[in-house]
Amino acid sequence: DQEKLTHVEKIKALLKEKDAVLVAHYYTDPEIQALAEETGGFVGDSLEMARFGNQHSAKTLIICGVRFMGESAKILTPEKNVLMPTLEAECSLDLGCPADKFSEFCDAHPDHTVVVYANTSAAVKARADWVVTSSIALEIVEHLDSEGKDIIWGPDRHLGAYIQKNTGAEMLLWQGECVVHDEFSAKALRDMKALYPDAAVLVHPESPASVVALADAVGSTSQLIKAAKELPNKKLIVATDKGIFFKMQQMVPDKELVEAPTAGAGATCRSCAHCPWMAMNGLKAIENALVEGGEKHEIFVDEALRVKSLIPLNRMLNFAA
Ligand code: 13P
Ligand code: SF4
Repeated sequence: DQEKLTHVEKIKALLKEKDAVLVAHYYTDPEIQALAEETGGFVGDSLEMARFGNQHSAKTLIICGVRFMGESAKILTPEKNVLMPTLEAECSLDLGCPADKFSEFCDAHPDHTVVVYANTSAAVKARADWVVTSSIALEIVEHLDSEGKDIIWGPDRHLGAYIQKNTGAEMLLWQGECVVHDEFSAKALRDMKALYPDAAVLVHPESPASVVALADAVGSTSQLIKAAKELPNKKLIVATDKGIFFKMQQMVPDKELVEAPTAGAGATCRSCAHCPWMAMNGLKAIENALVEGGEKHEIFVDEALRVKSLIPLNRMLNFAA
């Protein structure tokens, strides 16, 4: 509508004026993803977002996603102005893993290598030996296991259990979860599969093990989009945030995408899984970030923490390169 168009035009002009670029996650609103691509910015999974921001020459990064993504960008490129549409966009994994408690957990097992998911605060990353995202976690843990390392994993217990199962590594798991993926239900998914016997099932590994067990493909958001293209099935049941449907449908215009059911929703679920914090990223909020900057939008990371957290973050980027 007219209001959205006005925001889009203003954002385009402001991006040029401020030498800024939009870096968006697949779970943000379709109009944000479209605008990021149209203006030379980027849409991707959390690893790709970190990589893009790190390599781009713009003076200002507008990170459309949640706080840990903004913090990772600032840790990697402190010379840039890193802005977010809202600083209130959190993540249940980050919130459920306070740095002091996590540090105590690590201190109790000093002989373990500490691997943390990117969905954590800078302070938790600073306590870690490695940072991983869902697209690279399996390879990194495989590598550490081959060196005989025992691992402390935090904070997502479902992703941790998935990696433990697939690598056989010795892992102590922090008990956190993503409020969106934790809601997917194996029972309801089995009912849905019975309705659509020819459909393939795509699952993000932040989902419970019982849901992952029903998957034809498991992976990060980017990996699931790739699987959607590669699988021969014409119908795909997708267990991740519904924001992914925008890009996935563009990539497989001839396929039918169905949202996987959450608990209680049954096999007729529609629009069940959407992250409340990702949903805070709107066009108006992006425009505000570009106009106002400052304390309502700018990411700051304490320099001592930044220097410490850069080490495990860079380890991941170098491993992935
Ligand atoms: P990926 O995009 O790395 O798969 O991460 C998913 C996620 O939970 C981001 O919030
Ligand atoms: Fe965190 Fe889950 Fe939201 Fe991703 S979808 S930001 S993991 S709460």
